[in-house]
Amino acid sequence: MQTHEIRKRFLDHFVNAGHTEVPSASVILDDPNLLFVNAGMVQFVPYFLGARSAPWNRAVSIQKCIRTPDIDEVGITTRHNTFFQMAGNFSFGDYFKKGAIEFAWSLLTNPTDRGGYGFDPERLWATVYLDDDEAIGYWQEVAGLPLERIQRRGMADNYWSMGIPGPCGPSSEIYYDRGPEYGIEGGPEANEDRYIEIWNLVFMQNERGEGTSKEDFEILGPLPRKNIDTGMGIERVACLLQGVDNVYETDLLRPAIDLMAARAPRGYGQGNHADDVRYRIIADHSRTAAIIIGDGVSPGNEGRGYVLRRLLRRIIRAAKLLGIDDPFMADLMATVRDAMGPSYPELVSDYDRIARIAIAEEAAFNRTLASGSRLFDDAARATKASGASRLSGSDAFTLHDTYGFPLELTLEMAAEADLGVDEEGFRTLMAEQRQRAKADAAARKQAHTDLSAYRELVDAGPTEFTGFDELTTEATILGIFVDGKRVPVVSHTGRDGTQERVELILDRSPFYAESGGQIADEGDIRGTGSSETAKAAVTDVQKIAKTLWAHRINVESGEFVEGDTVVAAVDPRWRHGATQGHSGTHMVHAALRQVLGPNAVQAGSLNRPGYLRFDFNFQGALSDEQREQVEEVTNEAVQADFEVHTFHENLEKAKAMGAMAMFGESYPDEVRVVEIGGPFSLELCGGTHVGRSAQIGPVTILGESSVGSGVRRVEAYVGLDSFRHLAKERALMAGLASSLKVPSEEVPARVATLVERLRAAEKELDRLRLAGARAAAVNAAAGAEQVGKVRLVAQRMAGGISAGDLRSLVGDIRGKLGSEPAVVALIAEGDDDTVPYVVAVNPAAQDLGVRANDLVKVVGAAVNGRGGGKADLAQGSGQGAANIDAALAAVRAEIGRS
Ligand code: ALA
Repeated sequence: MQTHEIRKRFLDHFVNAGHTEVPSASVILDDPNLLFVNAGMVQFVPYFLGARSAPWNRAVSIQKCIRTPDIDEVGITTRHNTFFQMAGNFSFGDYFKKGAIEFAWSLLTNPTDRGGYGFDPERLWATVYLDDDEAIGYWQEVAGLPLERIQRRGMADNYWSMGIPGPCGPSSEIYYDRGPEYGIEGGPEANEDRYIEIWNLVFMQNERGEGTSKEDFEILGPLPRKNIDTGMGIERVACLLQGVDNVYETDLLRPAIDLMAARAPRGYGQGNHADDVRYRIIADHSRTAAIIIGDGVSPGNEGRGYVLRRLLRRIIRAAKLLGIDDPFMADLMATVRDAMGPSYPELVSDYDRIARIAIAEEAAFNRTLASGSRLFDDAARATKASGASRLSGSDAFTLHDTYGFPLELTLEMAAEADLGVDEEGFRTLMAEQRQRAKADAAARKQAHTDLSAYRELVDAGPTEFTGFDELTTEATILGIFVDGKRVPVVSHTGRDGTQERVELILDRSPFYAESGGQIADEGDIRGTGSSETAKAAVTDVQKIAKTLWAHRINVESGEFVEGDTVVAAVDPRWRHGATQGHSGTHMVHAALRQVLGPNAVQAGSLNRPGYLRFDFNFQGALSDEQREQVEEVTNEAVQADFEVHTFHENLEKAKAMGAMAMFGESYPDEVRVVEIGGPFSLELCGGTHVGRSAQIGPVTILGESSVGSGVRRVEAYVGLDSFRHLAKERALMAGLASSLKVPSEEVPARVATLVERLRAAEKELDRLRLAGARAAAVNAAAGAEQVGKVRLVAQRMAGGISAGDLRSLVGDIRGKLGSEPAVVALIAEGDDDTVPYVVAVNPAAQDLGVRANDLVKVVGAAVNGRGGGKADLAQGSGQGAANIDAALAAVRAEIGRS
C-alpha cells in the first residue's frame, strides 16, 4: 500500500467518525522552547490546557514532525527518521480511553477491502502505563488482546509529554511483531526492532512543569478535561505494508537512495553496511532539509538554522564517503520534490527557493572541505617528512572541528596516502572539547535559566509596565536576587560589584525590558523615605517567564530592602534614542519591502539608541542602487513627519490589515499594532516609539552584508549618531583631499590616476623581469648539458615567475637547441612558496621515448605537485622551493635512464 493511500485511509477513517480534518501546522510554531514541532498535538496545546476553547470536539491531522535527538540512529536502525508524518486523532473532552482504543484497533485490523490496513491481529501487541488497569481492560474487551500480549511499562516509555511544560498523560502504545528474523521474542520490553512501535495513544489528562528528563518532572495538576492525543507513524506503517526492510526503503524515501546509487561507485544493498547507512542518511536528511527550508529556515550557526546546516552537511559528507564528488544537491532536491510533492504542494510551489538555499550550502561546504583537503595534504606531507606513519590526533581534530571532516573521512584519506591516524589522540581532544562545552552550558544555565527561585513571584502575577505613559514610576520591591538567590536586602558593599548579579523585581516599572529586538532601557532606581540614600544604576532589564521584569542593577549607595517603596526612573535621553532606533527600524523595514518586494521578510533585528540592525531573507547582495534607494525611501518617510499611531487589535484582524508579524514569534490573541504613515509601515510590535517620524532624525545606512545563506543584514545610524557619522566621513574626505593636494570632488579622479600609474609601473617591472629571465635562458641554452643522447636544460628560475612566462621561456630555449634530441625543464620559485614547472621535449627526443608528461610526474613527485600535458609540452604546480634541486636531479636521472 502506497503512502498516499495510507494517509487517505487514516483521514477517511476518522472523518467518517465525526472528526474534523485539520491541516498540518508549520514545523515552526510559536513556542521558543520547542525548536521544531515534534508531534501532532503541538498545534492543539492551548485546547488541551483550556487556554482556548477548541472549535471542534474531535479532530484528525497528519502533522509534519521533526525529531533530531536521535539523529545518530538514522540509517543504523530500521525505523528512525528525522522527519516523519504523524497521523493523529484528537478528542478534546469527548471520547477517552475506550474510544481511542476502538478507533485505532479497527483501522489497523479492518481488511483492506473495507478501508483498513489489514494487519494480522495475532501480530499486534500493546503496552500500557504501570497501573493503567483500565486500559488493559479495554484492550481485552475491545480488541480481544490476550494478557500475554499486553505489557506494563514505566514513565520513560508510557508517559508522554512534549519534553517541556505543557499537557501530558499516561499512554498506551501499539506494536507490530515483525517475526523472529528481526530479533528475540518477548514483546516490546525485549526488542524494539522486532516489535516495532506504530501507534501511540496518549490519555492526555495532566499538566506538567519543568523537569530534567522524561521521568523527572513535576505534575502540576489535572487538565480541565480529559482528552485524547494519538500519533501513528506513517513511515513505519508504510514499511510494514510495503514489505520492505526499513523505513528508508519505503516509496517516498527510496527514490533518493536510487538517485545517489546511480552515481556512486558502489551501489545500495550490496553487502557494505557502512555504505547502506550513508544512503539512508541522505534519503532521510534530504526530506527533512527540504521541509525545514520550506517552512522558512535558512542555514545558520544557531538554533534551527544550525540543525538545518548540520543535516545538509551530513548529506554532503555521506555522499563524499560514498565516492560521489560532483555536486548533486540540485538533483537530490528535485527527487525529494517529486516524491513528496503530492502530499506537500509547498515543496513544489516553493521549489526554486528551497533548492537555491540547499545548493548554496552545498557549494559553501564544498569550499570548506576543499580548504580542509589542502590542510590534510600539508599535514600528510609533514607527517611523512618527519618519518612518522600516523597523522596526529590534533590534525584530525582540527580537520573535524574547523573543516567539518568526520574522523572516518580523515581515516579514508590517510589510508589513500599510506598513513594511519592517531585515533586515540583525536578522541581525547574531542572529549576535552565536550567537557568544555558542558561546563559552558552549565555556567550559562546557572546564570540565566534556573527559574525556580523566581517561581513564587511569577505565580503572583506580572509586572505592570508603565513605560508607554511615563518615565518615572513609584513602585514596591517584591523581591531581591543576588546571583539567582533570593535575599531580603542588598546594600552597597563598597567593592566592585560586577561579579554579582543583583536583580530587583518591582510590582510596576517604566523600564522597557529587552524584547522584539529593542534592548532594555537604562536609568536608575532610588529609595524613598527612610531609605532615600539608596541608589542603583539599572544596567539591563530582562523578562522572566515572559511576565516578570528583572532589573539588573549596580547598587551605588545605601541599601534596598524587600517591601520598600522606590522610584524607578528611565534616563529620558536614553529612551529618546531608543525610540529613534526602534522607529527607525520600522522605517528601514518598510523601505526594504518597498524597494525589494514582499519577499524581503524580516529574520531578526536589534536596535539601541543611535543604531539599528535589520536582518531579512533575500538571495544575493543588494546593488549600490538598491541600497541608495532604501536609504532615500527611509529618509523621505522620516521627513514626511508621519504620525506614529499605536493601537490594540485582534490578531487575525491585524494580520488581515497587512500588519507585519515576525516569523516564528508567538503572539497573544490581542496584539499591539504600530502604524507609521498608514500603509507605509504596519507592524505587530510591543516596543517604544517616537510620536512623529521626523523625530527619528537622519538615517544613514552603513552597509549591507550576508549573515548566513539567504539572510542579509543592513546596519544604520539614526539621529545624532547618524549626523556624527557623516561628520566623520567629511573629515576623512578632507584629510584625503589635503594629502592628495586636490579639492575633494577631484579625489576619485586623482585616486584613479594613481592606481593607473601604479599598474603601469608594475607591468613595466614584470617586463624587465622577463627580459632578465630571457637573457638567462639564452645562457642556459648555451650551457646545455649532455645526458646520454639528449641535450638537457634543467634550471631553477628565481623571482616570482608566472606559469605563463615559464611556458614562453621554455619555448624560447627549445627553439635555440636545434633539432638534435633536447629537453627543457624549468622549475620556478613562484609566489607563496608555490613551485610552477614546465617541461618541453623536442621531436627528436620524443623519438627516443622521452615524454614531457612523464617528466612532469617525476617533478611532481619531488615537489608534491599535480600536473599533466602531452608528450611535447607538459606543466604543473607544487609546493616548497626547497625541493626544486631534488626535482631537477630526478629529471636528469630519469633522462639518463632513457
Ligand atoms: N503525542 C504523542 C506522540 O508524539 C501521540 O507520540
